[in-house]
Amino acid sequence: MNQDVRAIFNRIAPVYDQLNNWLSLGQHGIWKEMAVKWSAAKPGDTCLDLCCGSGDLAFRLARHVGVTGHVYGVDFSPNLLAAAQERSQRQYPQPPISWIEADVLNLPFDHNQFDAATMGYGLRNVMDIPRSLQELYRVLKPGGKAAILDFHRPSNQQIRAFQQWYLDHMVVPMAKHLGLKEEYAYISPSLDRFPTGKEQVELAHQVGFALVTHYPIANGMMGVLVVSK
Ligand SMILES: C[S@@+](CC[C@H](N)C(=O)[O-])C[C@H]1O[C@@H](n2cnc3c(N)ncnc32)[C@H](O)[C@@H]1O
Repeated sequence: MNQDVRAIFNRIAPVYDQLNNWLSLGQHGIWKEMAVKWSAAKPGDTCLDLCCGSGDLAFRLARHVGVTGHVYGVDFSPNLLAAAQERSQRQYPQPPISWIEADVLNLPFDHNQFDAATMGYGLRNVMDIPRSLQELYRVLKPGGKAAILDFHRPSNQQIRAFQQWYLDHMVVPMAKHLGLKEEYAYISPSLDRFPTGKEQVELAHQVGFALVTHYPIANGMMGVLVVSK
């Protein structure tokens, strides 16, 4: 199953960034900036971006930590990491980011290493959400913070119906046009399986996070889980 998820993201890699811009009408940049702000990353910090894909959130995090800080972007898709690396090399000066190919359920880092972390659209895709939160908890420094951005099912029924309509009639057809129908059709079922904001808060408390809040954003169609160790 992990292999299936990795294969999906490897196939999406060439069009991933552009498609996200279209599908979110450019809004995903705003949501990602909110996640970076809620992670409380500051200049000089050592930070982690989990499930970094082609690196969009990692680049934003790197701008916050500046040249005295460092960001580690972790993903298990070599194709998306190659896209991130290429994007990095086109920038001058090059951002302080290391791209690491690894499974976020088994992070290749010691305990208590990171001041702050982000994760964008990753938690919904991992095979074991509690394990992923446990790994995040393990590698954050005491007092370290993380912001986890993902889709969310709105509690308002009309907005929920709009979200489903948008996924079925905009997202999937646009992806189909690019030959990626199945890769994007997976969003809706994965969202049905994804814990609600309240359930995410409970899971985070269970792994030991001291302070946990889930913020619904974009009318509840997205959410950011903010955790402090
Ligand atoms: C929807 S993409 C999000 C990419 C990026 N964070 C963004 O917001 O644009 C989800 C990413 O999670 C990665 N992923 C899923 N499960 C993973 C795991 N267990 N370990 C590492 N990466 C994983 C996929 O390869 C993919 O790049």
